[in-house]
Amino acid sequence: METYYRDSWVEVRLDSIKDNIQRLQQNLNKQTGIYAVVKANAYGHGDVQVAQAALEAGAQALAVSLLDEALKLREEGISAPILVMGWIRPQDVHLAAKHDISVTVFQVDWLEEVKSQSFTEPISLHIKWDTGMGRIGIRTKEELNNVLQAFNDPRLKLDGVFTHFATADEEDVSYFEKQQGRFEELLEEFQRLWSEPVQIHTGNSAASMRFPDQMHHMVRFGIGMYGLSPSSDVKAIDSIPLKPAFSLHSQLIHVKEMPEGESISYGADYTTKGKEWIGTIPLGYADGWIRKLQGMDVLVNGKRVPIVGKICMDQFMIKLDQYYPVGTKVTLIGKQKSEEIEMDEVASYVDTINYEIPCLISYRVPRIYVKDENIIEIENSLSIEELE
Ligand SMILES: Cc1ncc(COP(=O)(O)O)c(C=O)c1O
Repeated sequence: METYYRDSWVEVRLDSIKDNIQRLQQNLNKQTGIYAVVKANAYGHGDVQVAQAALEAGAQALAVSLLDEALKLREEGISAPILVMGWIRPQDVHLAAKHDISVTVFQVDWLEEVKSQSFTEPISLHIKWDTGMGRIGIRTKEELNNVLQAFNDPRLKLDGVFTHFATADEEDVSYFEKQQGRFEELLEEFQRLWSEPVQIHTGNSAASMRFPDQMHHMVRFGIGMYGLSPSSDVKAIDSIPLKPAFSLHSQLIHVKEMPEGESISYGADYTTKGKEWIGTIPLGYADGWIRKLQGMDVLVNGKRVPIVGKICMDQFMIKLDQYYPVGTKVTLIGKQKSEEIEMDEVASYVDTINYEIPCLISYRVPRIYVKDENIIEIENSLSIEELE
């Protein structure tokens, strides 16, 4: 097992990932399967570990954004179906074909370029339909027709069609319904033009949690799998209970009582108002604990205490309510006793969405994987095996 030599770490509870998958599965129709969305290093949680846990829990397949992410999973020995949901370079298609990775297509020129390559293995393709996200995908029946006509090479296997919703996490369902309508219309045209069966998938977490009866063969479950709600609207609807998998912790590495009128950190813009116990935490913006988090609370001994002064690259300071010894645990995201700092609170403090926060926590922070209350793996991107 890898080890680490710093006093900050992320804990990832793989049981929570499994529970979230199973809860969604119970909520879906029996014939609907699950893609576990593990792009961006599984939203910062760790792609291989989350992928394995999700597959064990009953997910049928994995979805990522980049070919690089898919190849890494294959290299790590994962043999489940993988779909790359983003655009890949046509000249790299041979790699996807060789490693049995499905890729996304929506451009005729791209297909022509692929056909001109000399690879021999068949390539599995899913056509992306842009029904209102405005990002990638074909938008009209004419484009659909043109793309389908370009499927005139035996190496090209059309395995799926899909779309992505822009507003499935909003209380107002009118735009979601508009996208659904456009999807069904394209689907009708597709089924008129194409007789082979393909996999149909539309829903992300919000859509799959809220509208299970409207899902097709598969859903693409990302944020909900990590135990985070897609939005405050979905949280209020409370469609299925979710368990957060990610928590972030550190320890006090220095504690001192400072007299009144002394300043803390760069810019000297925090000044003690009386005698104050100040603790130093070995985590900073290079770890993803960004400077905008100045003033945010952390938990010490089950109590909230604030970050004082500017957050440095590798350290920040907190104002303690009393003396605590060096080595006392500090929780930045997660629970201590009856107090909790949720990912949503951190996100709203810096005016963003919960998705962004675990993605920001950098490679410098080791990930500790917990299953049945036991540490089963430590991943430390900084570890160098030969050095003792
Ligand atoms: C195409 C696509 N499908 C599914 C997902 C998963 O979305 P969510 O994390 O909201 O479940 C994403 C993530 O952004 C995506 O880009």
